[in-house]
Amino acid sequence: MRVHIGTIHRRGHRRIVGALSAALLCTAGVTALPAAARTPDAPAPAARTTGTAPAPRLPDGLAQTPPMGFNNWNSTHCRAEFNEEMVKGIADLFVTKGLKDAGYKYVNLDDCWALPTRDAHGKLVPDPQRFPHGIKAVADYVHAKGLKFGIYTSAGIKTCNPAGFPGGLGHEKSDAQQFADWGVDYLKYDNCNNLGVDAQQRYRTMRDALKATGRPIVYSICEWGENKPWEWASDVGHLWRTTGDISDSWSSMLAIAKQNLPLAAHAGPGHWNDPDMLEVGNGGMTDTEYRSHFSLWSMMAAPLLIGSDLRKATPETFEILANKDLIAIDQDTLGKQATVLKSEDGRWTVVRQLANGDRAVALFNETGRPQRISTTAKDIGLPQADGYRLRDLWQHRDTHTTGTVSATVPAHGTTVYRVSADPRWATYPPAVETGTDRTPLVEAGTAAGIGSTVRNLGGTPAKHLTVTLKAPRGWQVQATSPASARALPGGRTLRTNWRITAPAGTAPGAYALPLTADYRSPRGERSTTTLPGTAHVVVPPPAGTADAAALPWLTAANGWGPVEKNTSVGEEGAGDGRPLSIGGTGFAKGLGVHAASEVSFYTGGRCSAFTARTGLDDEVGDRGSVDFEVWADGKRVARIAGVTGADPARAVSAPVAGAQTVRLVVTDAGDGIDYDHADWADATFSC
Ligand code: GLA
Repeated sequence: MRVHIGTIHRRGHRRIVGALSAALLCTAGVTALPAAARTPDAPAPAARTTGTAPAPRLPDGLAQTPPMGFNNWNSTHCRAEFNEEMVKGIADLFVTKGLKDAGYKYVNLDDCWALPTRDAHGKLVPDPQRFPHGIKAVADYVHAKGLKFGIYTSAGIKTCNPAGFPGGLGHEKSDAQQFADWGVDYLKYDNCNNLGVDAQQRYRTMRDALKATGRPIVYSICEWGENKPWEWASDVGHLWRTTGDISDSWSSMLAIAKQNLPLAAHAGPGHWNDPDMLEVGNGGMTDTEYRSHFSLWSMMAAPLLIGSDLRKATPETFEILANKDLIAIDQDTLGKQATVLKSEDGRWTVVRQLANGDRAVALFNETGRPQRISTTAKDIGLPQADGYRLRDLWQHRDTHTTGTVSATVPAHGTTVYRVSADPRWATYPPAVETGTDRTPLVEAGTAAGIGSTVRNLGGTPAKHLTVTLKAPRGWQVQATSPASARALPGGRTLRTNWRITAPAGTAPGAYALPLTADYRSPRGERSTTTLPGTAHVVVPPPAGTADAAALPWLTAANGWGPVEKNTSVGEEGAGDGRPLSIGGTGFAKGLGVHAASEVSFYTGGRCSAFTARTGLDDEVGDRGSVDFEVWADGKRVARIAGVTGADPARAVSAPVAGAQTVRLVVTDAGDGIDYDHADWADATFSC
C-alpha cells in the first residue's frame, strides 16, 4: 500500500521523529523563482516545455473563472464538528453575510463524510453520525439557497484519512453516478492509496465516468503536483493541485505561493492551477499575512475555497474574504494568472493582465521589515499616457499617478493596485506615497530621530498637505522641519525630520507609530493616507559579555515553530525543544532556530563582537542544510555557508563595533527549509 504522501508533507516533513524515509519527502521541496525581470505578458519559463500547440480543453464550459466556495478540511480535518449542521450553517452564512453575492458558490465536503465500508451493492454510505439525513438532503439544502454542492473521494482504493474511507479506484462509474444522483456539482479527487496505477489513467477514468452521468460536475484533480498535471490535465479536470497540502502558517503559505507562481502559463478559463484551499481566518497567521495570502491567491487566479469555520469567524476574516475588488481580479474573465515581474531580496512585484486592458499589481513584502516596492505603469505593460488611475484594492480608493506605482509595504504585507490607462485620470486625487527612513530604536527618556517623506506621485498638486506622526500617549513628538505645505506639486517630495522621546521607564517592546498625510485634491476632495509604522523601545546591553538568549530581542522570525531560548526548536509549538546539541556536543545556552530565520538585537553601538558555535541540531540527525550569517546594521560581517547535519559545531566570530543592531540570519542554503533546525549555541555579545 502506498503511503499517504499528503499527510507526510503536511505534518511530517519538518518533524524530527518518524520512521519515514527522506526519499519519500522530496515532494515537499520549494521551487525558487528566477530573480530575472520579465515582462508580465511574456510566458513563464515552464511554458516553453509544452510546445506551441494550445493545450486541449474540456468542452463543457465549466469553471470559466476559478471556482469559489468553501471546503471544511482546513478548519476541521476529520474532527466530529464536520457534520451536517456545519455544512448547512456555512450555506446559511454564504447568503446572510453576502458571500454568495460576492461570488462564493460551492459548499464542498472533504474527506471523512463516508463510512469505512461500502454497502452490499458496492455503494458509498454516508456516516450516519455526521450526516443523519444522508448526503442528498444536504445537497438539497445547499441547492435551495441557490448554491452548489461538492464532494470528495480519492483516486485510490481508500481516501487519505488513516481511518481508510472507500476510494473511487475501480468504482469510478458507480461512484460518479451516485454523486450525480445526489446532486453533486463538484468533485475533489485525491491521490491516496492509488496502488501505483498511472495517474493520468486514474484521473481520466473518473473524468469519463463523470461525463457519462450527464450532470455538469466541476472536476478538481488533487494529486499534489506529483505528476505535473499542468502538462497533461487541461482536458482532464478543471483545476489541479500544484503542491502538497497547505497548513495555517506563513512559511507554508509562502512556500506554496513560490511553487505555484512559475506555473502561470498553464492556467486559463476551464483549467486552473490550484495552490490549495484558503487558510484565512484559521488563526495561524496575522490578518496582514492573511491579506497577503488572499492577495496572492487572487493574483494567481487560484480557486478561492474558504477553509475556515465561518460560524466562528471574526469581522476581519469576513472583510478579507469578501473583498470584491480582489475577487474581481481572481475572477477576471481573461483568466490569465499573474506572473512575477521582479523578485529581489524578498520584495516581489507580481502583475496580472486583465480583460479590459488594466493591470493588477501586487507589491508583496516577504521580509520581516517594511520595504519600499516600486514599479511603473510602463513596466507592467500599460501604454504610454500622461496619467493613470490607481485603485488600492485593500483601501478601496482611487487616485492617479503619472507612472510610478509604489508603496512602503509592511512586514509580510501586500499592497495591490489596479492600474488603468484612463483618460479621466486627472479627475482623481493625486496618489501620495508615505515613507520613513527607519524603524526608530528609542531608549526611554532619550530623544531619537526619524525622517519621513511624502511624495506626490500624481500630476496635480496635493493641497493643504499636513503630515503627522502619531506616537503613543505620553511620548513627545516634534517636527524639526516643516510638516505641512500649502501645495505639494506633482512629482515633489516633502521631507520632515522628527524627534521622538518615550517617557523614562517605558517598557521595551514595539509601539505603533503611524505616519499620516492629509491633503486635498484640486477639486477639494480630502484624502488621507496612513503608513502603519513601528517604534521599538530598547534597552542597551550591559557592559561585559552578555548571553544572547538572556537579552531581549528586537524581532524574531522562524520558518517553522518559534525561536527558542536555550533549547533547539523541537516541534512546532513554543517551549517544546530539546537541549542544544551539535555533532554530539551539548550546549547549555544559545538560541534554537529554524530556517528561514532572523533574530535581531539592539546593540546601540556599544558592543564589539558576537561569537557563537553554529550547526544543525542533532535532533535532525544528518539531515538539513543551512547558511549562518551575522549582519551588523546593513552589512554582513560573518557567514558560514553550506552547513549540514553531518557537520560538527563551527565557531563564528563577528566584528560588530559601532552597530546599532545585529541580525542573526539562517537561510535554507537554497534547498528548502526541511529539517533546518539550526542552533546558535553559546551565542554571546561582548559589549
Ligand atoms: C489530502 C488532500 C487534502 C485533504 C486530505 C483529506 O491530504 O491533499 O487536501 O483532502 O487528503 O484526507
